[in-house]
Amino acid sequence: MDKFVITGGKKLNGTVKVSGAKNASLALMPATILASGKYELANTPSLRDVTSMMKLLQTMGVTFERNGTTLLVNTFRVNKFEAPYEHVKKMRASIYVLGPLLARYGKAKVSLPGGCAWGPRPVDLHIEGMKKLGAAVDLERGYIIAKAKRLKGTRIAFNVSSVGATGNIVMAAVLAKGTTRIENAATEPEITNLVEMLLAMGAKIDGMGTTTLEIEGVDELHPAKVHTIPDRIEAGTMLIAGAMCSGKVRIENVNPEHLSAVTARMEDAGISLNIGKDFIEVAAPKTLHAVDVTTAVYPGFPTDMQAQWITLMAIAKGSSAVTDTIYRDRFNHVPELIRLGADIEMKDNVAVIRGVKKLMGTKVMSTDLRASAALILAGLKAEGETEVLRVYHLDRGYEAIEKKLGALGASIKRVAGEEF
Ligand code: EPZ
Repeated sequence: MDKFVITGGKKLNGTVKVSGAKNASLALMPATILASGKYELANTPSLRDVTSMMKLLQTMGVTFERNGTTLLVNTFRVNKFEAPYEHVKKMRASIYVLGPLLARYGKAKVSLPGGCAWGPRPVDLHIEGMKKLGAAVDLERGYIIAKAKRLKGTRIAFNVSSVGATGNIVMAAVLAKGTTRIENAATEPEITNLVEMLLAMGAKIDGMGTTTLEIEGVDELHPAKVHTIPDRIEAGTMLIAGAMCSGKVRIENVNPEHLSAVTARMEDAGISLNIGKDFIEVAAPKTLHAVDVTTAVYPGFPTDMQAQWITLMAIAKGSSAVTDTIYRDRFNHVPELIRLGADIEMKDNVAVIRGVKKLMGTKVMSTDLRASAALILAGLKAEGETEVLRVYHLDRGYEAIEKKLGALGASIKRVAGEEF
C-alpha cells in the first residue's frame, strides 16, 4: 500500500484547479440507469470511488468511455439489477443504484453496506423510502431485495436530513406513477446537481435546492449531458493548506457559494480571503485565532471538513471546540494528530483543541478519506518528515493531491509498496 512522505515547512504559492465533485459524480453516474442511451458527464474527476462506481455499473451492462474529464456513459444494454457485496463493501455510495433500478426495471438486489471506518452508517431511510413508494423490500442474507411493478408517488418526510436517501428517493420517484413530496430533503449542492441532471433528462421536479421537493412522475426519461459541480471539499481542503502554509494560493474552478460556511469560519480565524466568482485566494495570517465549529447539514459547516478544521486549529492561538453532529464518532484522525504533537482531548462528539506552537513530523496512519486529508495538512506544516501510510483512502476522493500540492511548492512524494 502506498504512503506519502512529506517534508514540512515549505511555503505554498501558486494556483490550483479543483476537480469535479466526487459526491456529485457518485449520484450522477447511477442516474443514467433511468433511461437507455448515451450520456455525457462533464468534469467527472478521476478518483478511486468513480472507478469503483464504473466497475459496479459495468457489471450491470453499462459501458463507459473517457474523453478528457468528460465521462461518456452508454446504458443501452443494462441487463443485471444487482449490486454485490464486493462492490458495496468498498463503497457505500453503491446503494445509489437501488432507486434507479427499482424505478426503471422494477427490481433490485443491493448488498447492505457493512461497516464503515468511523461507526454506524445505516440505510434505513433508503429502505423506508422505497417501501413508502410502494416497493416490496426484504432483507435476505445481507442483501436488500426490492420489487415493484410500478412505484407510486407519496409523501416522504425525513426525520433526519440524509444526502444519500434524498438522492435515492428522488431517482426512484421521477418514474413513479403520481406525485411524490419529499420534506426535509437534503440541499447539499451535489443533490442539486443530481436534480439538474434529472430535469435535463425530462423529469418534473419542483423545489430544487430547497428542503421540499415535489416530483411529478413521468412514464419515460431520456439521456442528457450534465456538468459536474466543483468539489467543495477538495476546495476547502486546499484553502486550509493555503491558510497553514502559504505564501499566496489561488484556488480556481470553485463555486465559493458552496463553501460559504467554511470561508466564513476561516475569516473569523483571522485568515484573509479574496473571494471571486469562481476562485478564492488565501494567504496565511500573521495570527491564526482559535474558532469553534459545529458541523451541520448544508449550508452549515460540512462534516467532510471537520477533520481538516481540527488540523488547522491544532496550530491556532488559543483553544477551540469542534463538534460533529452528523457523525458523532468521526474522529479517527485525532489520535494520529496527537502523535504529530497536537494537543486534543475528546469529549463524546466534541474535540477540544489547545493550539500548539509546532507539530513534529512522524509516521501516521490514514483510516478514512477526510482523516487522511487532515494528516496530509498536518504533515505540510510539521517540522521534519511525516509519513502518511495507507494513502489509498485519499485516492478515493482527491484527484492527484500530491501533484497539486507539489505544484504549489510542497515537498510530498508517493512511495509505492510495503505492507503496513
Ligand atoms: C454523504 O454520505 C457523503 N457521501 C458523505 O461524504 C458525507 O459525509 C455525508 O453525505 C454527510 O454530508 C456521498 O455523498 C457519497 P447521509 P451519506 O445519509 O449520504 C444518518 C466523503 O467524505 N442516516 O447524509 O451516506 C447517517 O448515519 C463522504 O466524501 C441514517 O440514519 O450521508 C448520518 O448520521 C463521507 N439513515 C446522517 O444521516 C440512513 O438511511 C447523514 O448521513 C441514512 C443516513
